[in-house]
Amino acid sequence: MSLKDDLLGGSTDFNIACCNFYEQDILKLLFGDSFHPGGLELTKKLGEELCLQPSDLVLDLASGLGTSACFLAEEFGSKIIGLDLSRKNVKEANNAAQKRGLDNIKFKVGDAQTLPFEANYFDVVISECSFCIFPNKNVAAKEMYRILKPEGRLGVSDVAIERKLPINAQDLLLRVACIADALSVQGYKEVFENVGFKITSVLDEKKFVLNTFDEIKKKIFIAELATGLKKIDIGTLNIEEAKYWLKEGKRLINEGYGTYITMIGRKSSSY
Ligand SMILES: C[S@@+](CC[C@H](N)C(=O)[O-])C[C@H]1O[C@@H](n2cnc3c(N)ncnc32)[C@H](O)[C@@H]1O
Repeated sequence: MSLKDDLLGGSTDFNIACCNFYEQDILKLLFGDSFHPGGLELTKKLGEELCLQPSDLVLDLASGLGTSACFLAEEFGSKIIGLDLSRKNVKEANNAAQKRGLDNIKFKVGDAQTLPFEANYFDVVISECSFCIFPNKNVAAKEMYRILKPEGRLGVSDVAIERKLPINAQDLLLRVACIADALSVQGYKEVFENVGFKITSVLDEKKFVLNTFDEIKKKIFIAELATGLKKIDIGTLNIEEAKYWLKEGKRLINEGYGTYITMIGRKSSSY
């Protein structure tokens, strides 16, 4: 089956290229099964900020390999539906949930910009390191608002770009991780507020990105040994380039070009 067949019909080339990137085995080697800074430590913090309860029905939007959703279902007892555009990731996520014996969770294929759920359905929507990827953020935010019940809670963690990046950094973000379209903190706030959300807190999670960079650096060292022995496929990632960007990325973050944030809000019933 071709990559295009493997994704939903009607996806843009951008979406396809993006899912292609997030299906690479090298990502698992570098990030583990959580494709966002801070891994499950930050996911746990997100669950606590949202006061997740066993009675909550949660949508994990762009759920990747299902790692966060499985963890939240186990840790907080909530019922979770994960949605992701990549059929391959959804299949792996369902396998992971089955292996862990979780029956309060399921994953399906779908696009963040046309959510396959009725209005006022979920108590909570989360999206980790993914909102920045969606090509039409206004439409995705509207959809997130629509599927939440009145007073439903929103929890988004994402990359925020605060200053115009050097051109080679912009190019890298577009080429490698589809996150060149990340907004500033104020930009995210406006997108969500414009569709009716009330944003109640914004937390700076910069330290999680810096720690993740250090972890990845260690893993690259191991990957180099493995590729030396021809044990892994490094896909589209150039290891020398990755090492350069880990260093440069840290500098850019420390100089205030970008950060990682958690944004918490709720569907305001008065909208
Ligand atoms: C950075 S990964 C994050 C995955 C997961 N949230 C995590 O933190 O591990 C981004 C995910 O977004 C998915 N994705 C990209 N565009 C999407 C879209 N338009 N709708 C739904 N999922 C999308 C990709 O397939 C990928 O699994």
